[in-house]
Amino acid sequence: MKMNENNTVEKDELTGDKLLAGHDYDNIRELDNNLPKWWVWLFIITVVWGVAYVIVYDVLKAAPYQQEEWKNEMAAAGTVTPGQPAAVTDTTLLALTDQASLDAGKDIWLKQCKVCHLEGGQGLVGPNLTDDFSIHGCKYYNVVNIIVVGAPEKGMISWKAQLTDDQIKKVSSYVMTLKGTTPPNPKAPQGDPCK
Ligand code: HEC
Repeated sequence: MKMNENNTVEKDELTGDKLLAGHDYDNIRELDNNLPKWWVWLFIITVVWGVAYVIVYDVLKAAPYQQEEWKNEMAAAGTVTPGQPAAVTDTTLLALTDQASLDAGKDIWLKQCKVCHLEGGQGLVGPNLTDDFSIHGCKYYNVVNIIVVGAPEKGMISWKAQLTDDQIKKVSSYVMTLKGTTPPNPKAPQGDPCK
């Protein structure tokens, strides 16, 4: 604390409050008041909170981070594509394999899907469905799901209104048979590799 020549604490002339020593900028001085109690408590609480937060989230890992929480909730809701509602959450759903269903699926494919994915599924407007990559998931239930919900912002409608559940299952089963085939001029892979 700065003392003046008389060895007393310097005080503000107007209020009589203590002045902070050593801070003198062109005669502009700072007061040396105590911080308000509420402020000090708020500060202590934030420090305690911060320490508790680090212990809970980083040391004990007792609670998930926001991002994990979001992922967990999405998984719980059965969402296949982030931000898109899932219609099909049954991961055990199996593709139809009988010839009649696959033939019916192929009919639907040629009428409704070929225009964007091409006859062999090699892709045009829509992605290549024969390679080992996928935007919306490689499993049968992923295929059913994307056909039900569509990807309207990317150019594929939801087929729920045009096709019955049965037709969707059949065309999805047919799509599964396209995987691994090698039609000419395939579109470059899009999305993630299938595991
Ligand atoms: C108007 C064009 C168009 C038509 C018609 C169309 N699709 Fe698509 N399809 C797309 C586009 C574009 C995408 C890519 C969506 C994206 O990028 O998210 C897509 C994606 C898909 C996917 C997911 C591919 C992946 O990589 O995850 C499947 C499966 C699919 N379509 C099947 C079908 C079936 C079955 C039909 C017929 C019932 C059909 N599509 C009709 C344009 C179309």
